[in-house]
Amino acid sequence: MASILVLNGPNLNLLGSREPDTYGHRTLEEIMEDLTRFAGACGHELTYRQENSEGALVDAIHKAATAGVDYIIFNPAAYTHTSVALRDAMLAVRIPFVEVHLSAVAAREPFRQLSYFSDIAMGVITGFQGDSYLLALQAIINHIEP
Ligand code: DQA
Repeated sequence: MASILVLNGPNLNLLGSREPDTYGHRTLEEIMEDLTRFAGACGHELTYRQENSEGALVDAIHKAATAGVDYIIFNPAAYTHTSVALRDAMLAVRIPFVEVHLSAVAAREPFRQLSYFSDIAMGVITGFQGDSYLLALQAIINHIEP
């Protein structure tokens, strides 16, 4: 059984009402509950967390390491494009992670084209709205049980 943490960055608490054409109509809670169920059915433990501030996300990454988290599904949201601190935290704990985005970031504004995480992630999934998380979880499960 693997322990998997889903870590969500700023403004993702507003999913459902936030730019639904871009991010979908489902709330974060709905997406996370489906994910928890799917992980449980596959014999894995999934927890999730959402934080709006960079420092709280750094703390959550540090805590994941001491709590024995095996994999992280990480949507750093806007910090994807700005945060050296979060990149350094991921490098420090060395927990393998999949970078996830609901929107197709490659098709969006130029400032979203830089990610501080893609080159150190196991892989990146973008553009499938809430299903991006499910695809990331499936990729991790396949990695655990090839
Ligand atoms: C996002 C994409 C980011 O560019 C944006 O700042 C977000 C959400 C996504 O899931 O599509 O807040 O990470």
